[in-house]
Amino acid sequence: MKKLVLATRNRDKVREISALLSDLGVEVLALDAFPQIGPIAEDSGTLEGNALLKAEAVRRATGLPALGDDTGLEVHSLYGEPGVYSSRYSGEHATYAENVSKLLAAMKSFPPRRRAARFRCALVFVAPEIGARTVEGVCRGSILEEPRGTRGFGYDPVFLPKGFGKTLAEMDLSLKNKLSHRGLAMKEMLPILREYFK
Ligand code: IMP
Repeated sequence: MKKLVLATRNRDKVREISALLSDLGVEVLALDAFPQIGPIAEDSGTLEGNALLKAEAVRRATGLPALGDDTGLEVHSLYGEPGVYSSRYSGEHATYAENVSKLLAAMKSFPPRRRAARFRCALVFVAPEIGARTVEGVCRGSILEEPRGTRGFGYDPVFLPKGFGKTLAEMDLSLKNKLSHRGLAMKEMLPILREYFK
């Protein structure tokens, strides 16, 4: 069976991406399977650039096709913050809960019209024969004042997707994957992967 390496150690992302790739007919490996690969710098300044840095580093180290994901939460009235810094919003090794607390504090007293936000996910596929292919998925919504729900990860408990009465953390994985930034990016990426792995 052909192999694809996900260029992430984030188990939450691995769970979501593996479900999205379940019909592809390839063996999906996560970075955990390659402990010899050290930390990968994510310092390009853009989501697309960071996804490429991760995918390219993993392709080089493993010799296998690799898929990188970089995601940011962009809050309109915070001028796009936390954006590319979403994982370290509250410090270098911040937990999800610490990042959410910082966000809610930064938006305290913002009225509903100032709570618009979007998730943006860049996916980059790197393989020797085709170079790098980049796609993007966007999920629009708003930031609640209090967390709701226990599923998902990261900022999911405070993100209410537009047109839905549930936060991403109140949805099961299959619904989140249908409407999320990552699910929409993967919809663009799947034809590229199918063509490559056929
Ligand atoms: P990175 O893409 O690994 O830089 O992670 C960005 C950060 O954004 C993660 O640490 C999470 O806090 C958050 N994040 C990424 N994807 C999602 C998602 O699907 N839902 C909620 N938060 C997410």
